[in-house]
Amino acid sequence: MSQVIPPGSWLGLLGGGQLGRMFCMAAQSLGYKVCVLDPNSDGPAAAVADDQIVADYTDERALTELARRCRAATTEFENVPATALTFLARHCNVSPEAESVAIAQDRIAEKRFVTACGLAVAPHAVIEHDADLETIDPNIFPAILKSARLGYDGKGQQAVAAVEDVRAAWNAMRSVPCVLEKKLELRQEVSVVACRTRDGATAIFPLAENEHRGGILATSTIPARVDADTAQRAREAALTVAQRLNYVGVLCVEFFVLDDGALLVNEIAPRPHNSGHYTIDASVCSQFEQQVRVLANLPLGDTSQTMAAVMLNVLGDLWFADARTSTVREPDWASVLAIPGAKLHLYGKSEARIGRKMGHVTCVASNSIEAKVRADAVARVLGIRSPG
Ligand SMILES: Nc1ncnc2c1ncn2[C@@H]1O[C@H](COP(=O)(O)OP(=O)(O)O)[C@@H](O)[C@H]1O
Ligand SMILES: [Mg+2]
Repeated sequence: MSQVIPPGSWLGLLGGGQLGRMFCMAAQSLGYKVCVLDPNSDGPAAAVADDQIVADYTDERALTELARRCRAATTEFENVPATALTFLARHCNVSPEAESVAIAQDRIAEKRFVTACGLAVAPHAVIEHDADLETIDPNIFPAILKSARLGYDGKGQQAVAAVEDVRAAWNAMRSVPCVLEKKLELRQEVSVVACRTRDGATAIFPLAENEHRGGILATSTIPARVDADTAQRAREAALTVAQRLNYVGVLCVEFFVLDDGALLVNEIAPRPHNSGHYTIDASVCSQFEQQVRVLANLPLGDTSQTMAAVMLNVLGDLWFADARTSTVREPDWASVLAIPGAKLHLYGKSEARIGRKMGHVTCVASNSIEAKVRADAVARVLGIRSPG
């Protein structure tokens, strides 16, 4: 068994966003101290971390300092350079490992890996060289061109209607490596957050059903409204991914469910996931507590759901009366909090911007119908569309 890192020890975190903030809170609840390394000094995690190192992720002096101070380190930022994790791993325990993160960071490597696991992905073509434009299957259109690296929240993606539009779209992406993916009719999107320890123990959270708007997660409903067979296949697929990656930590697998019931792996996030934020309020052990437990070589916690939940993301859009004005107003939090079961989480970001994730509200209730009623009420107060 791997040696337990006792509470009171320091844990290191690469990245200072909201996922890091919630990791810090979970770590502190278990008595750990967290040192954040992030290029920005005023990120959501730094505000609650016990200490921070303001430096670039590739700054070797800063990484050495982090490793010297911490017994183990993890990342909350999907696009942290894998080289930073490799470097850190020479000095302290690091999870997830650089190899897993490198695969999840690159849509081309990710699709190859998922396919090698025997799991289905959307029909796609890899676009890396000019010659790749000549061999595209016309049945792939309409399609979406996605940059292989550094995309998130729908960024780095472009719709492509027909084969003659691919070149212009790829040029607009500065000809970086891409995947061209068939645009599918989705019956549903679901995700599974899975956890795996260094010793190979696993746990998974119930399926979340996710609604994206404009490429950004808008709502998650848990448990997902899927049949038992789909749920079982998704759980098995998520565990297969975790095991085949030899993954250590918390990861999320996003799926597409098609009309004929087919289940396709969309992408893998090598970290806790937005669709798992509900676990803070509606699970015995949250996804962030699991991340701490894995890092400290503690046993995994209970992933049981204690309440039905609907999560609504709070985007910066809510601070603007309409997208064309720059006048900022504060959403009516008092009215949100007056709704029974509404749990508000704000990330303390200093500036609201359109499309920026500022917080989330999890609506919990004893059953799914009531959780949805409460989420509808929150949506009304905030002026956003109800979850579907
Ligand atoms: N091939 C596709 N067909 C239909 N919708 C898609 C497809 N690819 C992406 N989308 C939509 O866009 C969202 C974001 O795409 P995704 O590839 O997950 O990128 P990101 O890294 O930005 O989350 C998806 O959750 C889904 O709603
Ligand atoms: Mg996604």
